[in-house]
Amino acid sequence: MAQLWGGRFTKETDQLVYNFNASISFDRKFYKQDMQGSMAHVRMLAKQGILTEEERDVILSGIEGILKDVESGKLEITSEYEDIHSFVEANLIDRIGDPGKKLHTGRSRNDQVALDMKLYTRDEVCEIDGLVRELLVILQRLMEEHTGTVMPGFTHLQKAQPITLAHHLGAYFEMFKRDRDRLSDIYDRMNYCPLGSGALAGTTYPLDREYTAELLDFQGATLNSMDSVSDRDYLIELLSALSTIMMHLSRFSEEIIIWNTNEYRFVEIDDAYSTGSSIMPQKKNPDIAELVRGKTGRVYGALISLLTTMKGLPLAYNKDMQEDKELTFDAFDTVKGCLALFTGMLDTMKFHKNQMAASARNGFTNATDAADYLVNHGVPFRDAHGVIGRLVLYCIEQGKAIEELSLSELKEISPVFEEDVFEAISMDTCVNKRLTLGAPGEKAVKQVIAKNKEWLEKHRSL
Ligand code: ARG
Repeated sequence: MAQLWGGRFTKETDQLVYNFNASISFDRKFYKQDMQGSMAHVRMLAKQGILTEEERDVILSGIEGILKDVESGKLEITSEYEDIHSFVEANLIDRIGDPGKKLHTGRSRNDQVALDMKLYTRDEVCEIDGLVRELLVILQRLMEEHTGTVMPGFTHLQKAQPITLAHHLGAYFEMFKRDRDRLSDIYDRMNYCPLGSGALAGTTYPLDREYTAELLDFQGATLNSMDSVSDRDYLIELLSALSTIMMHLSRFSEEIIIWNTNEYRFVEIDDAYSTGSSIMPQKKNPDIAELVRGKTGRVYGALISLLTTMKGLPLAYNKDMQEDKELTFDAFDTVKGCLALFTGMLDTMKFHKNQMAASARNGFTNATDAADYLVNHGVPFRDAHGVIGRLVLYCIEQGKAIEELSLSELKEISPVFEEDVFEAISMDTCVNKRLTLGAPGEKAVKQVIAKNKEWLEKHRSL
């Protein structure tokens, strides 16, 4: 047991208590950020005359040595230390002796861990944002390719009106664009440095907190030392944003699972992204999409878990907050894995255009346009709606689509129909006459694609 305290204790910690309390098994994940934070702290202490320049240099090279040895595998982070902070300090003292004992001047593990978690989270947010951007790039490519790929649009999972694949994918483009906006907002809000807040009440050393913040690339320093050590809001809002990303991926996965069924056959997932059955030789299952859908629950769980952990905590730091880490790390890893695999699956997926077009043609997706035709010839909409309802019923009895009826059959239902109705209710007209901004018509979608392209250029990274 290697711990940073013990002076006021007369007994050794019980081994089970030690194990229960220790966080090294998971906070070792931010060893780099911990050392980065310590180096900034030491630079600031020297600038303020709290450490000498020699002390600063010897501590800095000591920490750099530890970092190098950890990265090369020469030095292992073992569970004999209580947490990553103890690991670094103990190793530093081992290496450089007395100056190492000054590292923790004007600092507490409470502000230290608040800093480490923020630094780690900042890096993760950037990585996740990059992965969402990669997904958007693939969506953009697919949209460009499929502005003319007609498919049925659904409401209630019932065929509604014809759209194009580009338009359908464009809906997800908007969702993931908002997801990136959310990450960017959260990044800006969390980007204030808590170091120098001490255990809860600041410190009597003349620290320059703004300087530390600057060294660590923060927007500034936090303004209340109690809040600094007990704020986990940024993790909560981030877990909420990650849950929303997962919710979007899950909806998309659900659609791909449906589209990939034998009944739809709109898409075929690449062999590299499918799996087989141990018993049924014919099977090719959409496991990746299913796993993405399934793992969504895990990320929601992290959000609810942290909200619940935080809800009854008095100010300032409480050990409960140590529970913020494992679930957040798990959420980061889950979201990153899902984004990367989903993007690969989408990138390699085949779209069966003919099947989509055929599906749009059968199912009366042009019924609204047939009603609009009557309206354009003077029939009030409500009457037109009734006429087309009867027409659809007739078609169902005949086993035909509206456009497969003869003009005389159509005229029997409404004398208003003329030869030009066939043109008015063709799939091409139904889609491409819908040209309002955001609608599926090819020209309208191309306009949006151009705007999105600009957006992607402008938003390269956080
Ligand atoms: N392992 C702790 C955590 O993750 C670090 C802070 C410990 N502070 C303390 N006063 N025991 O929250």
